[in-house]
Amino acid sequence: MNLTQKLARRVLSLVALASLSVLVILWTQQPILAQDRVVNMYSARHYDTDNRIYENFTRRTGIKVNIVSADAGQLIQRIRSEGANSPADLLVTVDAGNLWRAQEAGLLQPVRSPVLERVVPANLREPVGHWFALTKRARVIMYNKDRVLPTELQNYEDLADPKWRGRIIARTSSHVYNQSLTGSILAANGTAQTEQWARGVVANFRRPPSGNDTAQIRAIASGEADVTFVNTYYLPRLAKSKDAAEQEAAKKVGVIFPNQKGRGTHINISGAGVVKTSRNRQAAVQLLEYLVSAEAQEILAKSNNEYPVRVGVALDPVLASYGRFKEDRLNAAVFGRNNSEALKIMDRAGWR
Ligand SMILES: [Fe+2]
Repeated sequence: MNLTQKLARRVLSLVALASLSVLVILWTQQPILAQDRVVNMYSARHYDTDNRIYENFTRRTGIKVNIVSADAGQLIQRIRSEGANSPADLLVTVDAGNLWRAQEAGLLQPVRSPVLERVVPANLREPVGHWFALTKRARVIMYNKDRVLPTELQNYEDLADPKWRGRIIARTSSHVYNQSLTGSILAANGTAQTEQWARGVVANFRRPPSGNDTAQIRAIASGEADVTFVNTYYLPRLAKSKDAAEQEAAKKVGVIFPNQKGRGTHINISGAGVVKTSRNRQAAVQLLEYLVSAEAQEILAKSNNEYPVRVGVALDPVLASYGRFKEDRLNAAVFGRNNSEALKIMDRAGWR
């Protein structure tokens, strides 16, 4: 073999090696790319209009969104029992208490994203990135306009005042919304004062707690009781109902944003986190980032009359008519963490 032949052979083997590497890269990369064309979302948000957001996302990115719907407890249990084989990529729930439970169960992984960190305020995301808020809801005081003056109540703490004996109604302590509210009061006032508050509220109940937030508002409108505390979005829902009786009921009810001279009104969230065992992590983060885009936030804000997390997105006009207010900036992770102690306090206070 002369020198030219030797050289040619070496060049050929190098070319062969290079093409083999390219093939190996393509072969190993391809399944990963193919996998990333889908996001499996386990969602406790159950608003039909949300679907438009996922359709838009698929149109823009080519990434398909599969949705499994159930309530947060069921979804958390399902991811747990599926273990390492869970197809879930993204968990979407309402209430920071639920996100906290998923995180505590080790089901979520931290995500760093400059987009999410820029758009979602620091108090509305888990500090390490286990979950991020998508929307906000305020837990406000609502009252019957014929029976109560808005100046009579300013703070959550006032709900324990004996002047309201037999005039307040509330949802049960087993529901996460009131656990989160109590968790925020616990962060502000400590255990002893929170327990005293819960006892005072329970002493003021007109009837044993029952029904959902809408049921409380209806009862206030009908004059069954005078005061309750519920999430903001339920009142616009009634006000915009096709049922004339519901529209009339909404007109009888006023909104008080509590604690405006102090820490501000309790803010809860709907939010999402990437599942620890996600096989489509990149696509899941992409969907999360899309969910806080102006386009998606507008639909999210409209679909359930919630406050968008992104600054500059228009509010639903009925929601906006309740006015601007000061928000409690307590990190949602804190009242998430306080959840179990809050529930114990409510139990001790006889809140059923
Ligand atoms: Fe709700």
